[in-house]
Amino acid sequence: MSDPILSLRGVKTDIAQYHILHGVDFDVPRGEVTMLLGRNGAGKTTTLRTIMGLWTPRAGEIILDGARVDGLTPARLARKGIGFVPEDMGIFADLSVEENLRLAALSAPPTPERLEWIFGAFPALKTFYHSPAGTLSGGQKQMLSVARAMIEDRALYLIDEPSKGLAPAIVATLARALKDLKARGASILMVEQNFSLARALGDNAAVMDDGRIVWAGTMAELARDTALQERLMGLKMESA
Ligand SMILES: Nc1ncnc2c1ncn2[C@@H]1O[C@H](COP(=O)(O)OP(=O)(O)O)[C@@H](O)[C@H]1O
Ligand SMILES: [Mg+2]
Repeated sequence: MSDPILSLRGVKTDIAQYHILHGVDFDVPRGEVTMLLGRNGAGKTTTLRTIMGLWTPRAGEIILDGARVDGLTPARLARKGIGFVPEDMGIFADLSVEENLRLAALSAPPTPERLEWIFGAFPALKTFYHSPAGTLSGGQKQMLSVARAMIEDRALYLIDEPSKGLAPAIVATLARALKDLKARGASILMVEQNFSLARALGDNAAVMDDGRIVWAGTMAELARDTALQERLMGLKMESA
């Protein structure tokens, strides 16, 4: 695994007086999809937020493309090529779908080709292009949230539980869009509680518990070892 796009080394993050991350170490290989897994409260969201500069680590190193980036602001990190899809979706309810997409573009207004690609992935966004984002269904909001990150090419996407609360048909649409992102050369670090989706999309997995990485390897290795899944995540397998 040479030349990862992102590496965390001993990352410790506090929130107020609480020690949340106790030294997080893992790599995100370039051009691959890495799933960050683990029980509720394990520290997955805190890890993504720390990478994105929304929390500043108390110790450790975050290395993007060979250079230290811990301590940079979210805006600087976005300009360095990180796209972030937050757990709470981060869309503007009062603004239209179009305005939400335009605001997500850092360099230039989205090109017609780019919009067509996004509409191809998420047709509902074309239908509701001029509607306030607050009037979209939960699944459509989640698609808008992912589409905002897709508005320009990003080298690395951090995506926090995109399938949460979505109907299976919408999860399938989302999975296709994420595969498409990967096919265009992006690297993805994604938190996902839906293990079938994690297994379908993931090349690699890193499993957290109590603010640390407790296992890392290939998704294939984790997928074939149900005892390991149960030990690491207390997973109940829903589907084959
Ligand atoms: N803003 C916050 N204030 C206090 N504690 C927090 C905050 N955000 C997260 N935590 C705590 O940090 C731990 C990890 O949370 P989180 O990173 O959201 O876990 P996960 O995404 O794996 O479910 C949990 O114990 C949670 O209660
Ligand atoms: Mg979370």
